[in-house]
Amino acid sequence: MTAHAKLASAHIAQGGRVSLERLPTNTTTSNHAVHRWFNFIAGFSPELVRACAAMTPESPSAPLVLLDPFAGCGTAPLAGRMLGLKAIGYDPHPFFSIISEAKANSHRYWTDLPLIRTAIGNGLNKRGDAEGYLSTSAFAFLNKMFNKADLDALVGARISLQDEGMGEHPLAILVLSRMIDYSCFAATDGIYKAPSSTKRALSATASFSRVLDTVESDALEALSGVNDAKIYAKSSENMCEIESKSVDLVVTSPPYLNNFDFAEMTRMYLYFWGMADTWADISSKVRSKLIVNTTTALRGQKELQTTYRNSLPFGVAEEAAQVVDELTSKRLVKAGKKEYDFLIYPYLSQMQNVLRECARALKIDAPFHMMVSDAALYGVYIPAPEWLGTIMRASGFTDVQVEMVRPRGHRWVLDKREGSERGLGEYYVFGRAA
Ligand SMILES: C[S@@+](CC[C@H](N)C(=O)[O-])C[C@H]1O[C@@H](n2cnc3c(N)ncnc32)[C@H](O)[C@@H]1O
Repeated sequence: MTAHAKLASAHIAQGGRVSLERLPTNTTTSNHAVHRWFNFIAGFSPELVRACAAMTPESPSAPLVLLDPFAGCGTAPLAGRMLGLKAIGYDPHPFFSIISEAKANSHRYWTDLPLIRTAIGNGLNKRGDAEGYLSTSAFAFLNKMFNKADLDALVGARISLQDEGMGEHPLAILVLSRMIDYSCFAATDGIYKAPSSTKRALSATASFSRVLDTVESDALEALSGVNDAKIYAKSSENMCEIESKSVDLVVTSPPYLNNFDFAEMTRMYLYFWGMADTWADISSKVRSKLIVNTTTALRGQKELQTTYRNSLPFGVAEEAAQVVDELTSKRLVKAGKKEYDFLIYPYLSQMQNVLRECARALKIDAPFHMMVSDAALYGVYIPAPEWLGTIMRASGFTDVQVEMVRPRGHRWVLDKREGSERGLGEYYVFGRAA
């Protein structure tokens, strides 16, 4: 039985009713208490985490330890905590790590909800002066996405939280962030879209009611679970906080090559909370801490290409070199001059650092589950899941299996493979720590 077939059986044995293709997507999240408080398009389903946990042999003496080295909005740590596991998540993104903390440890923050309600309510009534309070560049950006009165009210809520000593409270930040999401009239789901693409916006007060109704109706689940989750707001390339051979399972999904720029997609929140004020700030304070997966993240990376390449297992370095050469030739003739050729080595090498850390942290024979996709850049096919599988074999994993679980369509013309039926896909990469 392949690892994917075992995952499918575990999902069905759990009473799972969603199709296997939806497991790596966030399309079931709205059905799940607490998960639905704040989620995003790059997330996976709580059902995936449950199925992976069900496949893991229980330990007689202590709760299982679950690790997600790319925690995002906290699906794995939250699902783990709700199952009674000890959950650990890493994400250096300053906004996502707070969202993850608020959800994964909702039981710790729950009692503060009445205070949060009062502080936000008072702030909305009082209003703030968004133009005076935010930096000039943050205001110029946000002012294009909100009605002025709503932005003033939302900034009033932020000031009020600060005055009440809750300016850094994870649940307060989650609630107000979800409110700005509802009140913004620019479509912001997925990759940040220019303010010209609009969606229906709620007034700040209507957003307030909507968010609190949802959060308050999830009380039972928000309080469930006995173990605190541990969320580290740092890169998982170094997980020195975790003892070797102490983790029972990893469930994760890293940044995909040439997919979301997680710094850019959160620009609205970063500006609203003062976590960054300018585009340059976003690069230096957020993007530079993340795995290099888009050409917007190449600052300082071009000089390191040889070092990255030399860090890779020989077979992967050889195959990647051919792809990099092909991408360089394409760049020279394509009008956009996209520097895809500089992405491959940093992406693989930084992912290798995380995979090695996972191999170190996992107990012997403990399972590693990862959802990741391949890519096509300038029509050149990039077999990222297979390469990551090879890197895993060289990093101390056995029983490594790489299987496509979900097609992502034929949007790209793979001119190297004209006539080929192969489209892009999302892959399940499984392994066991040796
Ligand atoms: C595909 S998303 C994970 C989504 C998550 N599974 C969920 O359901 O919300 C990848 C995440 O990896 C994070 N990330 C990027 N570089 C990282 C690094 N070096 N260490 C840890 N996390 C990183 C990004 O900020 C992003 O939140």
